Amino acid sequence: MKIAKLHARQIIDSRATPTIEVDVTLDDGSFGRAAIPSGASTGTHEALELRDGDKSNFLGKSVNKAVANVNGLEAELSSMMLDTQEALDSWLIQKDGTETKSNLGANAILGISLAFAHATAASKKVPLYEYVNEIFGKPEMKLPTPMFNIMNGGKHANWATDIQEFMVIIENKPYHEQLRAACEIFLNLGKILEEKGLNVNIGNEGGYAPGFKSNEEAFEVITEAINKAGYKLGEDVFFAMDVASSEFYNAEKQTYTLKTEGKELTADEWQKTLESWVAKYPFRSIEDPFAEDDWSHWTTFTAEVGSKIQIVGDDLLVTNVKRVEKGIAEKACNALLVKVNQIGTLTETLNAMKLSKEAGWNNVLSHRSGETEDVTISHIAVGTGCGQIKTGAPSRGERTAKFNELLRIEEQL
Ligand code: PGA
Ligand code: ZN
Repeated sequence: MKIAKLHARQIIDSRATPTIEVDVTLDDGSFGRAAIPSGASTGTHEALELRDGDKSNFLGKSVNKAVANVNGLEAELSSMMLDTQEALDSWLIQKDGTETKSNLGANAILGISLAFAHATAASKKVPLYEYVNEIFGKPEMKLPTPMFNIMNGGKHANWATDIQEFMVIIENKPYHEQLRAACEIFLNLGKILEEKGLNVNIGNEGGYAPGFKSNEEAFEVITEAINKAGYKLGEDVFFAMDVASSEFYNAEKQTYTLKTEGKELTADEWQKTLESWVAKYPFRSIEDPFAEDDWSHWTTFTAEVGSKIQIVGDDLLVTNVKRVEKGIAEKACNALLVKVNQIGTLTETLNAMKLSKEAGWNNVLSHRSGETEDVTISHIAVGTGCGQIKTGAPSRGERTAKFNELLRIEEQL
């Protein structure tokens, strides 16, 4: 297999911010396209997203350099035989030559990697999820259960709450029924907020962002919505949250500041608060309960509640094999949040997932807060059979694109 044509362009994402889209055409005419997402509450250990930094152009956010870097590789890449995904990805990693992919940009590299995956699947005449399944060692494929992010806070919603994502998980139902339940809960939540005279505008990931005086108020209102929709919390619906706590951690003082509640807590006090929530509400999953380098509290928290709930490392692990290895050694959590653009190639993403799986952890495929209509992550979730995905609320087109793609895949499996 050879790449016959490689072309990148600048498009925009769901936050009016430029991102890169890459087209790959193979020598047999097969075509693949991928658009790259972008985070807001990014981990400091993520691979580098290359932006131009020219303040007069999209406030410094344009990605012309990354686009030029991709287009500049066309001649070299089209002269090479590329038999596997790994061959391409290793070549890209070497060509860049840096730990954080700062030469070419992780956004540029990932664009080529994912567009090539789409093109190869087309060449094999299989859906992308089947191609992913093949290179992931053919585990059983299944639809992932979503964590629906129905209420947004933190950096995604002008700090409506300190906690970034309030999510619900619907169990014991086929995917389309999970989606239906999430929509019914979401619609009832909107009605309840309206009745209470609260704001029903939405945040970056499509969830409501009314703003409360305490984080716990959000759990209470969501409970009301679940009841009103006719579902049973703790039986068919469970809570999950992404605390994204690196965003409110003070590294110097080693404290966690809850702005909405006007509290500054020591890490031990914060751990006690989290444990009290786990005792009070039916949680299935908590992501980033502690800051990205507060390893010791991750470990004590996991020892305390890790047998009851899933504890997910996002900013802690950044889909990076080296950080996942450390997480396993330190028993810091028991699940990996998987974001392709944190690491920058499909191969490295799958390697991080393999490692996590071998350790007996769970994997959760994830979107970013800045997204496009690209549906690659739906396919990766199905192809790896990882069982879980988070891709926002059932609201906003860049989120529904992923949910709706899963409906189409559900018909095929
Ligand atoms: P981000 O948020 O894409 O802004 O990093 C998503 C998350 O923290 O999981
Ligand atoms: Zn997160």
